[in-house]
Amino acid sequence: MTPEMASHLAEEICRLAPVVPVLVVKEVAHAAPLAEALVNGGLPALEVTLRTPAALDVIREMSEIEGGVVGAGTLLTTKDVENAKKAGATFGVSPGATDRLLDACEANDLPLLPGATSATESMRLLERGYSVQKFFPAEAAGGTPFLKSLASPLPQIRFCPTGGVSLQNAMDYLSLPNTLCVGGSWVAPGDLVEAGNWGEISKLAAEAAALTS
Ligand code: 3PG
Repeated sequence: MTPEMASHLAEEICRLAPVVPVLVVKEVAHAAPLAEALVNGGLPALEVTLRTPAALDVIREMSEIEGGVVGAGTLLTTKDVENAKKAGATFGVSPGATDRLLDACEANDLPLLPGATSATESMRLLERGYSVQKFFPAEAAGGTPFLKSLASPLPQIRFCPTGGVSLQNAMDYLSLPNTLCVGGSWVAPGDLVEAGNWGEISKLAAEAAALTS
């Protein structure tokens, strides 16, 4: 898959809802009810981070949920890309970008939302054809003032800021001309997932889905 096609698909995914939940799931048994709660709340695009031993099985289970679009996050290596693809991930997310990772995603037809945190990193990705990028770690790297500053010189790049984004500051990002959606873990807090409180998670999802960009 070309980087241009990957960015086209990434943009479609980013436009499904204002927020992409970033999920760290420890138990496979939590996968289906968690995905259902988020999708029913109005957040169809889900990023399952490859940070737990269960993550690939979680992606497999979540991929069965109707209306969900399940991606794999924290992609770092070629093996991560191959595993994510085999598990059924329809997109990938990475905190940064390396040539090897980009090669792997292109070779495995996995549309990638690659991370960038500077004008140079964004320009390098754009040069390769990636016009839709993750701005990570958003708050720590300068937040909305930083991202806003990139809009004039690099108007062709659109971002999904992630990292430190919350219900409180999400609208600040979503109001920027170069932000398509935001990513965040606040809609699926670990304690609610552990407790199986799917009703509360669905409420958090609905609240996030009501944010407008
Ligand atoms: C992460 O690294 O887990 C994601 O960027 C989400 O960050 P957050 O927990 O600050 O939303």
